[in-house]
Amino acid sequence: MCGIVAYLGHKPAWPILIKGLQRLEYRGYDSAGIALMHQNRLQVLKKKGKVDDLARAAQNYPTDGSQGIGHTRWATHGPPDDINAHPHTSGNQRLALVHNGIIENYALLKKALEKEGHVFQGQTDTEVLVHFIEELQHREQWPLEEAVRVALTRITGAYAIVVMDRDDPGKLVAARKASPLVIGVGNGEYFIASDATPIVEHTKRVIYLNDGEIATVSLRDNLQIRTMNNEVQTPYIHELDMEIEQLEKGGYEHFMLKEIYEQPTTVADCMRGRLNVEQGWVRLGGLDDHLARVAQARRIIIAACGTSWHAGLIGEYLIEDLARIPVEVEYASELRYRNPILNEEDVVIAISQSGETADTLAAVELARERGSLVYGIVNVVGSSIARLTHCGSYIHCGPEIGVASTKAFTGQVTLLSLMALVLAHRRGVLAESDFRRLLLELSEIPGKIAQVLEANAQIAYIAGEIKDRTNAIYLGRGYNFPVALEGALKLKEISYIHAEGYPAAEMKHGPIALIDENMPVIVIATNKSAYDKIVSNIQEVKARKGMVIAVVEQGDEVISQLADYTIEIPPTEEPFTPLLSVIPLQLLSYHIAVMRDCNVDQPRNLAKSVTVE
Ligand code: G6P
Repeated sequence: MCGIVAYLGHKPAWPILIKGLQRLEYRGYDSAGIALMHQNRLQVLKKKGKVDDLARAAQNYPTDGSQGIGHTRWATHGPPDDINAHPHTSGNQRLALVHNGIIENYALLKKALEKEGHVFQGQTDTEVLVHFIEELQHREQWPLEEAVRVALTRITGAYAIVVMDRDDPGKLVAARKASPLVIGVGNGEYFIASDATPIVEHTKRVIYLNDGEIATVSLRDNLQIRTMNNEVQTPYIHELDMEIEQLEKGGYEHFMLKEIYEQPTTVADCMRGRLNVEQGWVRLGGLDDHLARVAQARRIIIAACGTSWHAGLIGEYLIEDLARIPVEVEYASELRYRNPILNEEDVVIAISQSGETADTLAAVELARERGSLVYGIVNVVGSSIARLTHCGSYIHCGPEIGVASTKAFTGQVTLLSLMALVLAHRRGVLAESDFRRLLLELSEIPGKIAQVLEANAQIAYIAGEIKDRTNAIYLGRGYNFPVALEGALKLKEISYIHAEGYPAAEMKHGPIALIDENMPVIVIATNKSAYDKIVSNIQEVKARKGMVIAVVEQGDEVISQLADYTIEIPPTEEPFTPLLSVIPLQLLSYHIAVMRDCNVDQPRNLAKSVTVE
């Protein structure tokens, strides 16, 4: 969603901001803009469309200055056009502001400001906020940071903002509530951004602004952080563990393809130091101090959104099957609004790649309030969910740039597999021989993912056969049911083909009515436990002339006779099949999207990190 980047220093700000906005493109957006400050003049350039459109449009304008703020906007209030694009300026053209989030009481404020004579150009809540700050500044003669602080105490909603004042050059004021902001501290220069991706090529020293904090960075007075109540805070500088190469495509045509191919490495990274086959142990550092409580939990509730929710469903199968603890999986957005029964006997696991998803964050807050222990499974280090949970584990996949999540999904499932094994061992519900067998098998998954990737050319061929269809059905049973949901989501997200995932047996209760020769049915048929049942499901599809693409275990002879196409994956223990069976589905969606000429890494209307509810 919206992305913020700001610079204050001694170098030309324009190229830093443009590059920064390009780094933020992966978050999803529909317009972009930059405000520059130069010799007490404010220059604002903003445009509907891509950052490249903005850069082109700016060719005829001066882009001088070593101070500026930039923004990529994902429209919430008002259509994505040049006027609603950020930065927004105050009526007196003194202030420029960029904002990520939603100001909920903006309509009331707007009315009050209009009565005072303020005139608004567009429909955004952000424009109201900058006029409100202007009003306070004008009325009370406060310095910028005080006007911002007081304005923020009077608004409700979520925000990350950066503001600058033409009459107070050499200063940026930034604040956050429920939307992330990172400050990069360079040599006599500062960078502020929604995440670390625009910062890492300039400095690795960063400060994560906490909720309810306001930072003032100034070339004269350095950096000051205060709370909304005006208490001075001591900033803590973190060292970023991110390399610039991780943000580049590294020879691949798309980030998504690169990330699919990274999975043998990222799954291994997720397990590194956490599992030892020879000595027969598995351990999650983040769980150590809370192991007794989690192992004795009355039940575990998993809260997540999107692909992370699918990983959570696999977590349910894993934890119930191996550790025998009851698990419920909830859409975070539903959990937070339905007055759930949660207390100190429950453990809530929040799963989030970005660690910033607004609904998941709110579910974490709710669970904390109700006394549950909250465990985070997160990719982005230092993100809000990672910091708000009581404990947790990073999946260590590195930056995921493609909007469609791939390596984060397998990282989350790997982490949940480790967690199920830790809990099973602690509870003594798994025979030692089974435990050891599963450890060994899990350790071999990265190599087996690499083997699945070798089917890429065959999968691309199959993609060519179904690329022009308008619908698709994905079927799976047991551990592979969530994989069917994930396969369908991947196809929808990036190729805009309508797709549904279903438990294979449920097909008879509705979707079967849709099956004819035009309907591709992708069946994940690697289950050992329900093999005959899935064979029957395939026969039911074939009897209605559906086209069957089956993901099967190597050496399968029965389904390969029935299906139109089969994709083989190496044999594994059933609990770990999702880690292999999802890979062909990721590749299938990828190739179909490329063949349909879709923007694979930045699909329309989607955002990588959904920071509004
Ligand atoms: C968005 C992304 C998805 C992601 C979901 C949850 O919809 O496009 O790829 O699965 O948010 O995000 P999270 O960062 O919480 O895992």
